[in-house]
Amino acid sequence: MDKTVTILGFAGSLRKGSYNKALLNAALELLPKNAELRIFDLEGIAPFNQDLEDKAPPKVKEFKRKIKAADAILIATPEYNYSILGVLKNAIDWASRPYGDNAFEGKPVAIMSASGGMLGGARTQYHLRQSFVFLDMHPINRPEVIVTFAGEKIDGKGKVKDEKTRQKIKELLESLVAWTRRLRQ
Ligand code: FNR
Repeated sequence: MDKTVTILGFAGSLRKGSYNKALLNAALELLPKNAELRIFDLEGIAPFNQDLEDKAPPKVKEFKRKIKAADAILIATPEYNYSILGVLKNAIDWASRPYGDNAFEGKPVAIMSASGGMLGGARTQYHLRQSFVFLDMHPINRPEVIVTFAGEKIDGKGKVKDEKTRQKIKELLESLVAWTRRLRQ
């Protein structure tokens, strides 16, 4: 039997009613066999200060520990002003430092994005991919999960109702797990 693939998921948005948190919650229900997903909340991570990178706050240490322990990473995020949210970029910056102790090194990663508008956060996905080059991460290319008009697909309780969206999330997870297994060989 295949060894379980453990995935660490986090959302860029801190908003309680976040559509992107809803995507992560849907992922919990749609996992393939032999895969586990744990969700980490970025709330409370202080702004990065390079003077402190050798004595990171406890929340950052916990984040790095959980990234390192995971086989793969799943990011669900909106875009702000056509790019990566400050909260998410800040957390990524912390986890990548100090130089030589990048927690993301070599990790397979998948991205999902959602917004209320017609582009679904697509632009931030490409900006994240640019950072993955320096982080030496291995993103999957397909499927692209870009949830447009999220207000029509996610209900007021944060449940992803739209079947096509659920199917895409399921395919993304299957692809991430298969990719993680290939990289292990
Ligand atoms: C946004 N929003 C937004 N949407 C988008 O499609 N492209 C964009 O560039 C932006 N820019 C932007 C900037 C700022 C500061 C805010 C607060 C919002 C809208 C955003 O995608 C929408 O609020 C999402 O619902 C946010 O995701 P969560 O919180 O629902 O996960």
